[in-house]
Amino acid sequence: MSVITINQTEYPIPDDPRTTLLDFLHQHLSMFGTKKGCDHGQCGSCTVLVDGKRVNSCLVFAFQLEDCSVTTIEGISEEGALHPVQQAFIDNDAFQCGYCTPGQICSSVAVMSELARGEPSTLSFDQDYTRKEDLKERMSGNLCRCGAYPNILAAVEEVMEKEATS
Ligand code: FES
Ligand code: FES
Repeated sequence: MSVITINQTEYPIPDDPRTTLLDFLHQHLSMFGTKKGCDHGQCGSCTVLVDGKRVNSCLVFAFQLEDCSVTTIEGISEEGALHPVQQAFIDNDAFQCGYCTPGQICSSVAVMSELARGEPSTLSFDQDYTRKEDLKERMSGNLCRCGAYPNILAAVEEVMEKEATS
């Protein structure tokens, strides 16, 4: 049987190959933490992690992820405690309506992994750029209609600083 692993649980791949990962989460698993905004790759609200890398779940079909490991916002906490990024979003007041927040948090977690792996952003080819500018660039695929961007960046920076000094 073909399976897809979501938050460490295996599920059968849906029969209909047109089922996107986002619709699979909502319609087959009643897992609604991942949000549908534009449904065509423009807003980032549906961001999840696939094998640790961020993916717009509205742009991939579930059947493409056979044997992959998907982490959604429901699976991002660690051993019952909030993930440090989740806590930092609360501490920094990094959301208002909260609709974009699951995607922002998944993206933030992946951005930190990208930086740890030394993966460049488009800004990396400029002469001078600040870490804040780089984070803005890396997070630019996640839109927030409430405009919580400064606090989102503050939350991500806070976690990175804590990790750098721990
Ligand atoms: S809902 Fe997927 S990018 Fe907007
Ligand atoms: S917090 Fe409302 S859309 Fe981002």
